[in-house]
This record gives sequence, structure tokens and C-alpha cells, in this order.
Amino acid sequence: MEDRKPSIRIFDDLAALSRAAASLFMETAARAISQRGRFLVALSGGSTPVGLYELLAQAPYRQQMDWEQVHVFWGDERCVPVEDAENNYRQARDTLLSRVPIRAQNIHRIRSELEPAAAAEDYARVLKRFAGAALDWPRFDLVLLGMGEDGHTASLFPGSAVQLSTPTLGVTAHYQDRPANRVTLTPLVLNAARRIIFMVSGAGKAQTIANVLYGEYQPERLPAQRIRPTAGELIWMLDSPAAAGLGSTL
Ligand code: 6PG
Repeated sequence: MEDRKPSIRIFDDLAALSRAAASLFMETAARAISQRGRFLVALSGGSTPVGLYELLAQAPYRQQMDWEQVHVFWGDERCVPVEDAENNYRQARDTLLSRVPIRAQNIHRIRSELEPAAAAEDYARVLKRFAGAALDWPRFDLVLLGMGEDGHTASLFPGSAVQLSTPTLGVTAHYQDRPANRVTLTPLVLNAARRIIFMVSGAGKAQTIANVLYGEYQPERLPAQRIRPTAGELIWMLDSPAAAGLGSTL
């Protein structure tokens, strides 16, 4: 399948980006629930999506969402205790999940208290429960991703081979000054999604975004380039500072 061009949407600032992301999140959820009776979403860690999570926990989104049919997963997790400030599940719990009527059994966190390989194998079993026929992983209705200034996404870091625990889950050793080993979904799973949204904010990422979108394809150096949905849609949601490097290419 030839690659569909990604959609690039630019917003004045992170607040405007978050509002637009909330609308898109709701639209994606409503369509999934209407067509398949459930909404499978993989959340991202990092600071960028916090504004989105807080919006979804407020009116009108909180009331509009059919939370009974929502299943929340994570694209990656740091291998730290749940209550650690670096834990992605904890961040989503405190900014969103504890504020909405989602069922506890619909929250599928990566069990970061386990040894990384054990956490990955455990999560692979969770994914299998939601998998389509003949697959070991679900086709997520929505995957939220961020991107680091070094071009990493989820826990797919430049130059660091992901030790594949299973085709669906990888473990990466702690990277640079980051706090811990990580468990990450692999591009195999991420790219199966119906819709992938990158949310990227800040001038510090402008050159990297230009390189990822319009530079040479070198995924070892720019792992965000590995994100190419096989049959889904890829949307980049950028604030103006992050889009500054795109210039006339738009
Ligand atoms: C994580 C995320 C990671 C994040 C980027 C961007 O676990 O931290 O998966 O890929 O999205 O590092 O982080 P910021 O949004 O904080 O810039």
C-alpha cells in the first residue's frame, strides 16, 4: 500500500492544539464505538498530552464520551513504580482516568513494577485479548504519540536497539539521563492503528520535525520516521514554534 501522506495541522499554541486534539479524540471515539462497539486508545507519556487529558476530564467532553466503551492502553511505560512521578499510567490516572467514569477493568496499564521483560510479556498477553483474528495485537482506533528533540517516539530511541520481547513489545534500556528501562509497543503494533496522532510542541523540536517529515529516511537516527500506518491515518498536530522549520514545504 503506498504511503498516505500525513496530515499536518498547525495551531497557535499548545492550548489551541490541545483543544483541537480533544475534539479529534472525541470524534475518533464516537466513530469507533458506533462502528465496533468500543474505542481502543493507546495514550502517550510525556508532558505534551497533559492539557488534552485534563480537557477530556472536563465538560463538555466528560459528559459526551461513552466511557463504558472506552479501553485505555499505553504506547510505552517507564519501568518505575506506579506512584513514581515518571510513570505514564500515573500521569494519565491523575489528570484524566480518576476524573471520569471509566471502568477499572478497561484500564490496561503496563505493569511497570515487574522486571521489564516480564512486563512486556504480560502486556503482550493483554494485547492478545483485544487482537483481531489471526493477530497477536489489536488494531488501535487511536494511538497518541509525542516526539523528543532527538526524534524518539514512544520508547523507540535513536541508535538503541529495542530488545524485542515479542513482535509486539520491546524493552529498551534506560537512555541518556532518562530514569529507567522502558517497555514499548513496536512499530508493528503502532502502525496497525486506524489513526495515529503526533502531538508536538515547542521550538526545540522544529528542526527535528522538518528532518522527520522532509529529510532523508533514516529511522535508526529518527525513530519517529518508523511511524507509517499500514492502512490508517497519520496526523501531526504541531504548535507554531514546533512547525517553524517546515517553512514553505507545507
Ligand atoms: C514517554 C513518551 C515519549 C514522549 C516524548 C515527548 O514515555 O515519555 O512516550 O515518547 O512522548 O519524550 O515528551 P514531551 O511531551 O514531554 O516533550
